[in-house]
Amino acid sequence: MPKKLIKARILHFIDQNDTQASNYEYFPEGGLLIDDGIIEQCGSLSSILPMMSEEVSIIDYSDQLIIPGFIDTHLHYPQIDVIASPGKNLLDWLERFTFPSEAKYQHRDWSLQSSEFFLEELLRNGTTSALVFGTVHSESADALFTTAFERNFRLLTGKVAMDRNCPDYLQDTPESSYEDALELINKWHLKGRLQYAITPRFAITSSEAQLEKMAELARLYPEMVIQTHLAENVDEVAWMKELFPKHRSYLDVYDQYGLLRPNSVYAHCIYLDELDIARLQTTKSSIAFCPTSNLFLGSGLMNLQHYTSQQIQVALATDIGGGTSFSMLKTMGRAYEVAHLRGDVLSAFDLFYLATLAGAKALGIDRSVGNFIPGKEADFIVLDLKATPLMERRIGICQSLEEELFVALILGDDRNIQATYLMGEKKYQRQ
Ligand code: GUN
Ligand code: FE
Repeated sequence: MPKKLIKARILHFIDQNDTQASNYEYFPEGGLLIDDGIIEQCGSLSSILPMMSEEVSIIDYSDQLIIPGFIDTHLHYPQIDVIASPGKNLLDWLERFTFPSEAKYQHRDWSLQSSEFFLEELLRNGTTSALVFGTVHSESADALFTTAFERNFRLLTGKVAMDRNCPDYLQDTPESSYEDALELINKWHLKGRLQYAITPRFAITSSEAQLEKMAELARLYPEMVIQTHLAENVDEVAWMKELFPKHRSYLDVYDQYGLLRPNSVYAHCIYLDELDIARLQTTKSSIAFCPTSNLFLGSGLMNLQHYTSQQIQVALATDIGGGTSFSMLKTMGRAYEVAHLRGDVLSAFDLFYLATLAGAKALGIDRSVGNFIPGKEADFIVLDLKATPLMERRIGICQSLEEELFVALILGDDRNIQATYLMGEKKYQRQ
């Protein structure tokens, strides 16, 4: 197969060491040279062209902006049918809408059909890697792995562990959550671009015996990603205190079971104290910031600026279906507004970093994706910043790249995703 040369305006983030943004490289007349799905060079076109002696196929996006694919660090694929269900708060929403909908994922056919819809929706929105919750049923994770494998999508998921405080029809046991996970790990973990993630739903729905089993799994696989929810809602935190009276805090429960470590991903983290924050920092745990969900469920305004200033790895997430959009552009817009309500003004570069390289670092996949460093997988998206008449007009008067990016994240959504590529292959093209 000949190499591919993509011509476009190219933007990516290159800071590898810091949890804060944001060193970026921008090539107004850029080139991305791809060999067999892997980035060979990224730079200005003039620096790449002279070096090319062999035959290459040229793909011309000269007027468009290319960036790395978005990385969604927390969402639930079985919740596609509960998006926009108006719960009074998290616990009410889970009970009335979410749990009943998740019951259908005991059926393999339903899980397969939904996972296909789900992955197509991610590609349509420019998301090329994701850390995803299934349901308690092994079938749900197995179906999503199957579908992602067919598409060569970089996906991390796990069977959800939950053995109490939820309907009987969604409960497993400490033993079955462990055995089912092992079976899925043997079948899927590290196959192609797939990874298993240890997935206790949250402390409320796991008994201490089950958390001990998750701790055992975590010890068995010290590199494996762990995902759960933490300190999202006031009533949830109060309930947790009743269930774990001996623990200093919500985070302390996970800490006791050895679940805080690099590439453990804690969704929400709105109600933490300074000791919790220090523990997240020393254990190199990550936070998935879910602004649309936190707004929609009325959960609260996460203090992004404080966490990043403490060197905690924070990345962006849609939290579908508590979240209201698959679009990481829209999610960046809400992140900007949440920070603004707290008195902080984020730059467009901060926000695009949170949706790309920060996500790769949070999930520990930054050796493979997150930017266009040679050797990484060529997952990228083509942004059409002028997708509507209003955007065309507004972008038309922008004076800088930063201004264009800001307009895109405030006005933008799936309409701005012109094409999505996985490992150099086009998987989505906007009609
Ligand atoms: N906490 C426990 N389960 C869930 C869930 O499905 N969505 C959200 N937003 N929070 C949770
Ligand atoms: Fe969630």
